[in-house]
Amino acid sequence: MKYMLSFTVNGAPADVAVGPTETLLDVLRDRLGFTGAKRGCETGDCGACTVLVDGRSVRSCITLALTVQGKAVTTVEGLARDGKPHPLQQAFHDHGASQCGFCTPGMIVSLAELLEKNPEPCRDDARAAIAGNLCRCTGYVKIIDAAMAAARSPHKKGGPA
Ligand code: FES
Ligand code: FES
Repeated sequence: MKYMLSFTVNGAPADVAVGPTETLLDVLRDRLGFTGAKRGCETGDCGACTVLVDGRSVRSCITLALTVQGKAVTTVEGLARDGKPHPLQQAFHDHGASQCGFCTPGMIVSLAELLEKNPEPCRDDARAAIAGNLCRCTGYVKIIDAAMAAARSPHKKGGPA
């Protein structure tokens, strides 16, 4: 049995017939081609699959797709504006905050939520925001450096689609 799921992804409407057990991550990656959200643990532990639903970060691997009916989903692909990277995306690049990059989309989405809610976070705020995002490579310092640099950017607002 399939049900029609109608929602928006990065500001564009999407209509997909989905089964009751399909996850939001499955729909985004496998049905709609938004591969920014990564398939890591699939148990809600690593944060690689993080996306925003109506501005709040969620683990798309443990979110049933049908629960986002009528809602606005933003993936890391949707954070860029007018052809320019989001300040967090730019700062991750500038500060070498990605190594293998697998955790990076989830990190950036979690930090984008933080900057929307708290435009002047301290390093501890940023640490708390990514407490559920695991990175095997960077040691986190450069990620926090990048978050602080993005917070200083005059373009940090602009938010999710
Ligand atoms: S893949 Fe979703 S939390 Fe790890
Ligand atoms: S950069 Fe490799 S897991 Fe974070």
